[in-house]
Amino acid sequence: MLENVCAMFPSLNFPILMNTLSPQRPFVVKPAPSHKQGATPIPTIAEAFQQSGIATPAYVLDQAAFHHNGQILKHVQDETGAKILLAQKAFSCTSIYPILRNYLSGTTASGLYEARLAAEEFGGEVHVFSPAYKPAEIIQLLKISDHIVFNSLGQWKRYREEVLTSERPVSPGLRINPEYAEAVAEIYNPCAPGSRFGVLASLMNDDDLEGIEGLHFHTLCEQGADALERTLEHVIAKFDKYLCKMKWLNMGGGHLITASDYDVPRLIRVIREVQASYPQLEIFLEPGEAISSGGGVLIGSVIDIVENGMQIAVLDVSATTHMPDILEMPYRPDVEGSGQPREKAYTYRFGGPTCLSGDVIGDYSFDAPLEIGDQLVFHDMAHYTMVKNTTFNGVPLPTITLMKEDHAIEVARKFGYKTFKFRLA
Ligand SMILES: Cc1ncc(COP(=O)(O)O)c(C=O)c1O
Repeated sequence: MLENVCAMFPSLNFPILMNTLSPQRPFVVKPAPSHKQGATPIPTIAEAFQQSGIATPAYVLDQAAFHHNGQILKHVQDETGAKILLAQKAFSCTSIYPILRNYLSGTTASGLYEARLAAEEFGGEVHVFSPAYKPAEIIQLLKISDHIVFNSLGQWKRYREEVLTSERPVSPGLRINPEYAEAVAEIYNPCAPGSRFGVLASLMNDDDLEGIEGLHFHTLCEQGADALERTLEHVIAKFDKYLCKMKWLNMGGGHLITASDYDVPRLIRVIREVQASYPQLEIFLEPGEAISSGGGVLIGSVIDIVENGMQIAVLDVSATTHMPDILEMPYRPDVEGSGQPREKAYTYRFGGPTCLSGDVIGDYSFDAPLEIGDQLVFHDMAHYTMVKNTTFNGVPLPTITLMKEDHAIEVARKFGYKTFKFRLA
């Protein structure tokens, strides 16, 4: 399906995008030779990074990939009139905001700081949802937000007067819990029994909702338009009488719209069907991962190789400090050119440089033995990585770099000892 959508955008630079992560390219980057002879093909992200001489660990954000994702999302907006917002919880590297604001309608924030960042750096509509607001946060949020979504009727009642009399017009919404989520890992399931997220239909009534202008649900996680369609059946079955009275519906995140197998026409159809059933509703989607998916890599180096029943490479990148979803989700990230354990001749376990025994990224095999100093490229590391980084053990934060469309690598932000020291002072 992606091919169809992309055929509509001849300006998309697919050769560059494909080449950056092409499995045919060298996967383990050996230290750079000082002279290169002959014509060089378009460098992979790893080669471009290596040629830059920047030290690892480093994120490399591929600007072309963000244009690619942005154009697909803009297509959905243009076809439906729905508005797509960047969920900053997934990705909030402001160096990329100038690209994203060309394609998106605004942002959504998880609280005051992300909302401030959005207002200062992104522009467009500022939406916010937090599981619970403190009074001081509401005062600030009312100055910068366009939509504020409350998680409970208690919070709404507490702040209703302030919101409705706010100098700046702010549209209040309520998060609902449709009690339906598919195939979501339990840690990501907002509809699990006992979940704190959203109001149950059985607890809602018209009086409590007076002043509420929109409903918000977020139940998907890396899912397709088919899952959204089934979810909407549950939302409509439970909340139809409220939807009829609302001005907007926010369908949350978890829509992996930019994935190659995502059914974009189905999403467009589903949105149009909701619009046909509720013509007064403005529709919002707030994906995070879809916006930054494929947007960059994390490059680390082999620092040591130790033996304990197998070869274990100790790296300068860490699961716990740099890629915590490996442990939380859990999952095993792709490493450029690697195979499953023992699929290729040389198998290694990758461990981080921290004291945590479980700081293990995964087991990988390679055609050639790894050497100290080799660089390793971890794919798809833009979302839910940079925003979650810590300096546990004093591990350095990866440098943030940008790969321009001419493949030049530029440092956006470098962190040092002072970042670590002053955060803890
Ligand atoms: C309320 C809400 N909106 C949007 C998102 C973004 O989801 P994703 O990055 O999976 O698209 C999340 C993720 O947790 C969320 O909780």
